Amino acid sequence: MIPYGKQFIDEDDIEEVVKVLKSDFLTTGPKVAEFEKSLCLATNSKYAVAVSNGTAALHLAALVLFNENDEVIVPPNTFLASANAIIYANAKPIFCDILEDGNIDLDKAYELCENNPNIKGVVAVHFSGKPVDFKKLQMLKEKFGLKVIEDGAHALGMKGVGSVGDLTTLSFHPVKHITTGEGGAVITNNEELAKKVATLRTHGMTKEGFVNKDLAYDKHGNINPWYYEMQDLGFNYRITDFACALGNSQLLKLPNFIKKRKAIAKRYEEAFLKIEHIKPLYSYDENSSYHLFVVLIDFEAINKTKAELFNFMRENGVILQTHYIPVNAQPYYANLGYKYMDTPKAFKYYEQAVSLPIYYSLSELNQEEVIELIKIFLAR
Ligand SMILES: Cc1ncc(COP(=O)(O)O)c(C=O)c1O
Repeated sequence: MIPYGKQFIDEDDIEEVVKVLKSDFLTTGPKVAEFEKSLCLATNSKYAVAVSNGTAALHLAALVLFNENDEVIVPPNTFLASANAIIYANAKPIFCDILEDGNIDLDKAYELCENNPNIKGVVAVHFSGKPVDFKKLQMLKEKFGLKVIEDGAHALGMKGVGSVGDLTTLSFHPVKHITTGEGGAVITNNEELAKKVATLRTHGMTKEGFVNKDLAYDKHGNINPWYYEMQDLGFNYRITDFACALGNSQLLKLPNFIKKRKAIAKRYEEAFLKIEHIKPLYSYDENSSYHLFVVLIDFEAINKTKAELFNFMRENGVILQTHYIPVNAQPYYANLGYKYMDTPKAFKYYEQAVSLPIYYSLSELNQEEVIELIKIFLAR
């Protein structure tokens, strides 16, 4: 079977993980700090806090940046977690429609902010690895004083990721650019925010700035060595040391992973450019880190359904995906009063969008197979 995405693990990765399994540390140990340092280098940011998954990263980022009842802009064309995190923080998602490239329409976001003073933040998703318009995002941040989360789950290795967000989140799920099994991180240039995220990652526990002086210190004024203090309600969102060992090893391969993804994207582009009723979501973009390769297919024009394509491909060994069902179409959100028709472009996009296989170990031969099968389906 050829899936739409999958991890690539080599002997070096396995060796690094085994070393940790044979060491004294399984959960937080030296590999976590090493991974955080490598993530800073890879993303050009000052601080990184590695956590148990990308959703946890979004949860903590939203808690740190948003207040109860804040309204926060988010695109519907994203994974559930980008919007759910806003609700975790007792804030309210405002869905903003998308552009032709699948990314949030920041001009539309501007209009929303002009008409609604309760909007205090935005979760900007670099959909498929294509950067949102950073200039417009920065302008929104300054003009309306918005708190910005960049959801960079698709964007590791993309130039500029984290350059505007107060906090930027990453995911290391196996289909992403690199994997730690489950894993995620929050990156930032703000020391205070990084500290808050790190504290919330472990139950809100701290070993400094103690409030209970009588419990924290002995009669000589020395810190009691066992003492810790909880000043905030946090979670256990820690990542294991062996996951971070895998992350470190995977990060070394990131440039090659991206290179391969770009080569695959180019080949798809060339294959479909001259064919009717199918087109790449956007023309080849060197700035995209190509987590996904999405084509738009005019199913109405060919008088076929998307389900027919998915079934045909699966019968022939290829598993396609759709990124994404608009989040505001989910029953949970519908029950809260959201209507997916309020973001018609995201819905129209959804009807036509198909994610094709793209991952490091996809061979040219397998990609040719995918292309040929799609051509056959379109021509039938
Ligand atoms: C855009 C986006 N945000 C957030 C997440 C959540 O990441 P994780 O699966 O690591 O919790 C994902 C992953 O699927 C994603 O694609």
